[in-house]
Amino acid sequence: MAERIRIVEVGPRDGLQNEAVTLPVATRVAFIEKLIAAGLKTIEAGSFVSPRKVPQMAETAAVLKAFEGRRGVSLPVLVPNMTGLEAALAAGAREIAVFAAASETFSLKNINGSIDESFERFAPVVARARAEGVAVRGYVSCALGCPYEGAVPLARAADVAERLAALGCYEISLGDTIGVGTPDAARSMLRAVAERVPMNSLAVHFHDTEGRAVANIRACLEEGVRVVDSAAGGLGGCPYAPGASGNVATEDVVYLLDGLGFETGVDRAAVIEAARFAFEALGKKRVTPRTP
Ligand code: HMG
Ligand code: MG
Repeated sequence: MAERIRIVEVGPRDGLQNEAVTLPVATRVAFIEKLIAAGLKTIEAGSFVSPRKVPQMAETAAVLKAFEGRRGVSLPVLVPNMTGLEAALAAGAREIAVFAAASETFSLKNINGSIDESFERFAPVVARARAEGVAVRGYVSCALGCPYEGAVPLARAADVAERLAALGCYEISLGDTIGVGTPDAARSMLRAVAERVPMNSLAVHFHDTEGRAVANIRACLEEGVRVVDSAAGGLGGCPYAPGASGNVATEDVVYLLDGLGFETGVDRAAVIEAARFAFEALGKKRVTPRTP
């Protein structure tokens, strides 16, 4: 039987958080419905962050409410602090993600705190979430490079990943936030992290600024990673990572994985349909050019 890869769809969060247009709740819900119809089982639905900082993710509570009681799909949301956790719990979130960085400057710009300060905030958040039976994923941003500091030593990504695992995150997603990675760099970084955190609790999260995300993912699959983040249509970027482009496109990841003989349970044509829907809603001229 083919080995399974879990795809974590981040389009409705990482994809939409950096768009000029803020989509209404109903459109965000419809986008998520299309992604569910495509077979995706984990779909990041939004963020409980400051709406002043990221207005595109305002009203994430209403997005979650629309899926209340829905079985068979996990809809994690980003949470930076206790305020965010309280709101996420009230909205019925069953999974959250905390997000740390391997670069001090990015941490400051993104969440207004140093790496150590971010862990002081996360510790009670993760403890409370777990006490409520809510699963917690962790992100390491800038694992391969920082928009402000440039190169980031491999040991820094490993340190931060280890700290997130020690807090109780069930999975750590290693983010190439600005898409500067190469297959060799990605492989080395993943190896360095896997010496400290088991490979079966790691995921990779590539942005595609330089068009190398698919090659980087392939290298990481060879190293043994089995969870891949992506966004339908290659939407995305981070408001605090100037110049960074979208996430690797889910349809490209599915094409790669199908070609390598992995099983994903995801229908590539339906992902492209979902991407078309989002592009149209955003008023983007270029709909994903890929054919099913
Ligand atoms: P702060 O200014 O230090 O927070 O921001 P504060 O506690 O001093 O509060 C300031 C104001 O924000 C207050 O409101 C709070 O109520 C409000 P005011 O009194 O001024 O009206 N506030 C909140 N409102 C809603 N939800 C909350 C919340 N917390 C405080 N949770 C904070 C700290 C983290 C909140 C802020 O910096 C922030 O929201 N940053 C946005 C971070 C973000 O969403 N970044 C993008 C996602 S990360 C990413 O894309 C990378 C990733 O994809 C992986 C990769 O690619 O590498 C994950
Ligand atoms: Mg990202």
